[in-house]
Amino acid sequence: MKNKVKTAVLVSGGGTNLQALIDAEKSGVLDHGKIVAVISNKPGAYALTRAENAGIKTYTVNKKECKDQSEFEEKIEKILEENKIGLIILAGFMSILSENFTKNHDKRIINVHPSLIPSFCGAGFYGLKVHEAALAKGVKVTGATVHFVNEIPDGGEIIMQKAVKVHEGDTPEKLQKRVMKQAEWKILPQSAELICKKILNGEV
Ligand code: GAR
Repeated sequence: MKNKVKTAVLVSGGGTNLQALIDAEKSGVLDHGKIVAVISNKPGAYALTRAENAGIKTYTVNKKECKDQSEFEEKIEKILEENKIGLIILAGFMSILSENFTKNHDKRIINVHPSLIPSFCGAGFYGLKVHEAALAKGVKVTGATVHFVNEIPDGGEIIMQKAVKVHEGDTPEKLQKRVMKQAEWKILPQSAELICKKILNGEV
């Protein structure tokens, strides 16, 4: 069997980006990586159902049940070790990871963000809030970014970006859907493939 990087996808919500990764693995767009675990910080997140339907192992690490950030991250670390994870993909994961965690996984965590970084990013910019801010500013073009995760929220090296047009009369919901469809669901699987390939080739 081909050598593949075992990946864990961290989620918090609906999991459409997780679905794009699952579909990419089936279609062969994601060929050098294998999704072996899905971890949610939110019990009952629909992303977990998507993973179960695809036969992928699921885990819930509820931050509210942990005494602090380090206990939360230790639990995640344990799952990553058990599954020999080589790449962590944040796909709508709405919890900020500490510097301790990100340093431990340098160039081994990627994240998808629904804007063209450095616009509308950093602490407080997540989900619909990003699109609300883009519309409030009146930008005519927005998009999505996949980047490595470091200690600065949305501050790591950019891997891929894709621009998406804002339409007149857009609502945050309409814009979110267009950004997902035209950008996120494409560049997240493509970036995962690129980075898995680079890991296997010792290039990153
Ligand atoms: C996506 O738009 C993702 O880019 C965003 O949340 C949504 C999750 O949707 N992530 C962030 O804002 C992180 N800063 P999904 O659960 O359907 O993939």
